[in-house]
Amino acid sequence: MEQRLIYAEQISKIYKSNGRKNAAETKALDAVDLEIWKGEILAITGASGSGKSTLLHMLGGIDTPSSGRIYYGEEDITKFSDKRLSEFRREKIGFVFQSFQLLPELTVEQNVMLPWKLQHQKPDKKDIETILRELGMEEKKEAYPEQLSGGQQQRTAIARALVHQPDLLLCDEPTGNLDYQNGQEVMKLLFLSREKRKQTIVIVTHDEKIAGMADRIYKMRDGKIIQ
Ligand SMILES: Nc1ncnc2c1ncn2[C@@H]1O[C@H](COP(=O)(O)OP(=O)(O)OP(=O)(O)O)[C@@H](O)[C@H]1O
Ligand SMILES: [Mg+2]
Repeated sequence: MEQRLIYAEQISKIYKSNGRKNAAETKALDAVDLEIWKGEILAITGASGSGKSTLLHMLGGIDTPSSGRIYYGEEDITKFSDKRLSEFRREKIGFVFQSFQLLPELTVEQNVMLPWKLQHQKPDKKDIETILRELGMEEKKEAYPEQLSGGQQQRTAIARALVHQPDLLLCDEPTGNLDYQNGQEVMKLLFLSREKRKQTIVIVTHDEKIAGMADRIYKMRDGKIIQ
C-alpha cells in the first residue's frame, strides 16, 4: 500500500506589493489540493508564472501559504513556529535550484559542508566523501565553482542537498541550465539517490522529456493543478 508523505489541502498564496496605494495582488496559488506519496518521483510542469516555484517553496517550508494546510505525515507544517519550521527544513528537506546557488569563494567540498557549518555542526567526512563519489565529484572536491562545468556545479548542489539525508528532495528546474547530456546525468543521479535513500523527490521542470521520466506529473496553470 502506498503511504502518503504530504497532503496539501486548499493552499493559496497571494503576493501583495506592499507600500503602494493601488497595491496589486497576485494569486500565485489558487486553492491547490495535492498528495505526494512516499518514495515517488513527482514532476510539476506548467508555463512560466503558473505557480510551480511558489508551490515548491510552500511544500518545503521556505514560505508559508496565505491559507490552507500542508500536512507532512500527521503534522500540519503551516502551524509551525518559525523555529520549528527551520528545524523541519533542516532535518527533512533538501533543495536544488536551477541556478545552483554555490558560493564562489568556497570549494566543492566546502560548499557541500556549508549547511552544517551554518548550524555549527560537524559533518561526517565519510558521508561527504561517499556522496561526492556517488555524484562523480570526488576528484573535483578542491575545485571552486568557476572551475566547474554547469553539470558539475549542479551535481555539487545536489550533493549539498543530499548530505543531511533529507526525506524529501525538492528540485526547481534542476536541469534548466544544462544541456541534454548533463540533464540526463542529473536525472540518473536523482533516481539513484531515490533508490539508495528511499527518498521522495519533486522536480519542477519545463522539459516534457524530463517530466516523462517521473512516476507522476502534475500540470499547473494560473496557480491551479489542472491535470
Ligand atoms: N515574491 C513574489 N512577490 C510577488 N509576486 C510573486 C513573487 N513570487 C512569485 N510571484 C508571482 O507569482 C506567480 C507565480 O510565480 P512562480 O515563481 O511560482 O511561477 P513559476 O511557475 O515557477 O514560473 P517559472 O517557470 O518562470 O519559474 C507569478 O505571477 C509571479 O509573478
Ligand atoms: Mg519557477
